[in-house]
Amino acid sequence: VDARVAKISSLVRTIPDFPEPGVQFRDITPLLADPDGFRETIDVLVGQLPGPIDVVVGIDSRGFLFGAPMALQMDVGFVPVRKPGKLPAPVFEEDYLLEYGSSSLNIHRDALRPGQRVLIVDDLLATGGTLGAAAKLVAREGAEIVHVETVIELAGLGGRKHLGECGVTSYSSILVC
Ligand code: PRP
Ligand code: MG
Repeated sequence: VDARVAKISSLVRTIPDFPEPGVQFRDITPLLADPDGFRETIDVLVGQLPGPIDVVVGIDSRGFLFGAPMALQMDVGFVPVRKPGKLPAPVFEEDYLLEYGSSSLNIHRDALRPGQRVLIVDDLLATGGTLGAAAKLVAREGAEIVHVETVIELAGLGGRKHLGECGVTSYSSILVC
């Protein structure tokens, strides 16, 4: 795994002062553009799963890029968690905090069944606000969150702690920055 992790790490580019001064933006576009690196990322994410799952929940929008290929590779379905106003059928909604202000995430009320074993996927964990809201949505469906996974984890922003407060007991990432 170490060689694969080193390769994946080399394909994540750091852009200083984006979107504002002082922020180091972790840019995954070089990783997406490299078919070997992209495939290895999906392989490592799938390999880190602690047990069987029935469905992948991916988060709008960058979570879709990793969650959808994982679902195909595992031969399970994919369910999108979306930003407000995008899903056409009745939804559950959860608010979450952004650095400035707040937003919300939606999931179709009929997207999951009680007891389904769920993996939640996003590209990056920072404060955990986004993944925490997604976890609450999955819980409202009555489904079981088996694991939460991201490619990148920004340490020092309290993301893991926040996930725990949102009922997530199992989390892993590939890269810690
Ligand atoms: C980014 C990133 C994660 C989230 C992490 O998404 O893709 O989803 O922020 O931050 P947090 O842990 O502090 O919530 P963003 O909202 O920028 O949207 P995008 O995925 O559509 O680019
Ligand atoms: Mg995102």
